[in-house]
Amino acid sequence: LRPLIIAPSILASDYARLGEEVRAADTAGADWLHLDVMDGHFVPNISYGPDVIKAMRPHSNKIFDAHLMIAPCDPYLEAFAKAGCDHITVHAEAGPHLHRSLQAIRALGKKAGVALNPATPANAIEYVLDLVDIVLVMSVNPGFGGQSFIPTVLEKITTIRAMCAGRPIDITVDGGVTADNAAQIAAAGGNALVAGSAVFKGGTFEHYKANIAAIRNA
Ligand code: DX5
Ligand code: ZN
Repeated sequence: LRPLIIAPSILASDYARLGEEVRAADTAGADWLHLDVMDGHFVPNISYGPDVIKAMRPHSNKIFDAHLMIAPCDPYLEAFAKAGCDHITVHAEAGPHLHRSLQAIRALGKKAGVALNPATPANAIEYVLDLVDIVLVMSVNPGFGGQSFIPTVLEKITTIRAMCAGRPIDITVDGGVTADNAAQIAAAGGNALVAGSAVFKGGTFEHYKANIAAIRNA
């Protein structure tokens, strides 16, 4: 079994105090910091890009786990690597050349991830598993924080965990994760839990600490 990882999504933080929020999530017990990049084209929302990630970088030594909800993604991979991302995850649906994108991320010396929208079948990644360090299973439709977990995704997580058997792949589950469904997600085979609203609710460091602990202990 892979170790359990909690990855707060900075999307739910107060952008006006970004450095402080990154430090707070780090100190509150985050394993990775999850960075949601949205382009207003692949998803119907716009968040932040590599320059903002570069500005966050000095505020934490934790793993920067970038989730690129952008299309095309290939022209920007190097910028995200240079900004200090340790993991770069691209969507299987973002273009016709997923294999090339994953090769490019590995060539930049970063861990490569592939993300799947709720409607995308598990077998979309069957022939790229040798190029993948992380499979990110979306449990909401990407674009916004604060949505409800889609329960049919649990079966897909189990299928992907079986497909990955024997490979050192983290299965990240992203969207609507709370202390109430964390145990079910872990039982299905997810080992990295992204949580935005469930971590940042309350708005203070003490809340973040209690919220992360609640998910971890669930
Ligand atoms: C959604 C993003 C998620 C989001 C999760 O498009 O990929 O990472 O921030 O937010 P919550 O935990 O609030 O569903
Ligand atoms: Zn995400």
